[in-house]
Amino acid sequence: MQSEEGKRIPRHVSIIMDGNGRWAQERGLERVNGHLQGVKSVRAALEECADHGVEYLSLYAFSTENWGRPGAEVNYIMQLIFKSIMGELENFMANGVRFMVLGNRASLPGILNETIDKAVEMTAGNKRITMILFISYSGKWDIMQAAKQLAAKAIASGEGEFWLEGVGEDDFSSLLVTAGIPDPDLIIRTSGEQRLSNYLLWQGAYSEFYFTPVLWPDFDRAQMNAALEEYARRDRRYGKVK
Ligand code: IPE
Ligand code: IPE
Ligand code: MG
Repeated sequence: MQSEEGKRIPRHVSIIMDGNGRWAQERGLERVNGHLQGVKSVRAALEECADHGVEYLSLYAFSTENWGRPGAEVNYIMQLIFKSIMGELENFMANGVRFMVLGNRASLPGILNETIDKAVEMTAGNKRITMILFISYSGKWDIMQAAKQLAAKAIASGEGEFWLEGVGEDDFSSLLVTAGIPDPDLIIRTSGEQRLSNYLLWQGAYSEFYFTPVLWPDFDRAQMNAALEEYARRDRRYGKVK
């Protein structure tokens, strides 16, 4: 996609929001203060992306592995997500933001699931930008749940191997939780770590990566703009010769 100035704009930007704990620790604060501060960065990234005409902004908010953190931190994050969704609903409606959550919904607290359902339903008709929170998500989990669905379908077909021969990559993609959502064009990771940490393993097969040492709570609109500028300079070849 091209913007009005002819700049290449990613359709789908995804962010691994990392460095909240270190941001807080650097200031002698508890780790959870970093998570709280990180909500502001979400707002900034959303506004900047929407202004540039990005269609999807997805955010890795909580991984399957993050369940292994101390209970108090996990509870804090779940409550923060709950409060943030409640607090942002008005803003989503005013700014045309469609809200979605992807991940292992069955593992989330009931009250959070109810709030998510309400926010998803309320914002379903909004058209300016779609914001996706990945919660209790991991790439391997996603691929496994898709593979299990596929196996069940193969069994139900009664034709087993013969049926499986007709299954293509698009059929498999449609069983992932991201069905219908374009693969991320750009994956940003903050805090200087250069790894995927079990994020969009299948969907990120051809994503451009942007790593920045900036900690997530310090990521502002200018940082988001810099990432979009860098993306516009990338040459995406998809294995072909130009
Ligand atoms: C990212 O920040 C937020 C989540 C993973 C929930 P971290 O909490 O991982 O912060 P660091 O990496 O320890 O600084
Ligand atoms: C990845 O960050 C998960 C999220 C940002 C939600 P982590 O901080 O959990 O990942 P590692 O431990 O550096 O791999
Ligand atoms: Mg981290």
